[in-house]
Amino acid sequence: MNQKGGVGKTTTTVNLAAALARAGRRTLIVDLDPQGHSSLHVGVDLNAPGRTVYDVLIDDSEPPSAAIRPAVEHLDILPSTVDLAAAESELATLPEPHRRLDRALASLGDRYEFILIDCPPSLGHLTVNALTAAREVIIPMQAHFLALQGVVKLLETVRQVSQAYNPRLRVSGVVLCMHDTSSAHTREVVAELESFFEQSRQAESPWKFARVLRPAIRRNIKLAECPSFGQTIFQYAPQAPGAEDYAALGAALLKEWDAMLARLQANSPQDATA
Ligand SMILES: Nc1ncnc2c1ncn2[C@@H]1O[C@H](COP(=O)(O)OP(=O)(O)O)[C@@H](O)[C@H]1O
Ligand SMILES: [Mg+2]
Repeated sequence: MNQKGGVGKTTTTVNLAAALARAGRRTLIVDLDPQGHSSLHVGVDLNAPGRTVYDVLIDDSEPPSAAIRPAVEHLDILPSTVDLAAAESELATLPEPHRRLDRALASLGDRYEFILIDCPPSLGHLTVNALTAAREVIIPMQAHFLALQGVVKLLETVRQVSQAYNPRLRVSGVVLCMHDTSSAHTREVVAELESFFEQSRQAESPWKFARVLRPAIRRNIKLAECPSFGQTIFQYAPQAPGAEDYAALGAALLKEWDAMLARLQANSPQDATA
């Protein structure tokens, strides 16, 4: 999530999910943005009839699996269309509006190892649903002037939702998108972010263990081109720097998640399967 638009949320959701799927992990993308960008990015035809995440949130007469469509091997998507914009106000009329997505995803059981939710650029009901359903928050962003202020505001929202609805929510960190390592200014912003996270180790908060995730995703035109072909970077340009960076980010996160799962299993086998 990131309440700012154009920072790399969709690009990261789709290509990180594709990296996990390529590692043989059953992965689902939930497109929670009414713009439907991640649905288009994996080649869903949004004009074809079919249930979408809107139906899953508002009308539970059919199971969520009825809205899920295959994208590539091991990767499925719960797509969205512009209809989803109406859900912002319609959700407010339903009981426990913040928990609709959580309930729907829980009903999928262990069908997926990873579910990545692409959030809209706002902090409304849809984003609160995502934060209530999630275990971890990943913040795609660019290392620009005032980046830290945006992150601090976003973290406050995460804290509020965590306190109200989801105490186990954790911020894993930021993914630097469209990254330019040659700029001195960029390096300063990254140093500032890192020192902010270091200071956060002292107190309890959902971002106590957050960090700048590595590698950063370099600016790469192939990443900007592939959505219009309805392809992930691994289909469109598997040799491009963008594919290399998302594959490496996926491998780094998988290593941590697998280690965490092994620790949980050793300590308490029941918690680990939940
Ligand atoms: N690493 C990158 N290099 C080049 N272009 C990128 C990169 N990451 C994202 N883009 C492009 O920047 C624009 C915004 O990215 P997007 O992922 O759609 O952001 P958001 O979902 O936060 O609005 C898109 O046109 C996307 O293709
Ligand atoms: Mg987007």
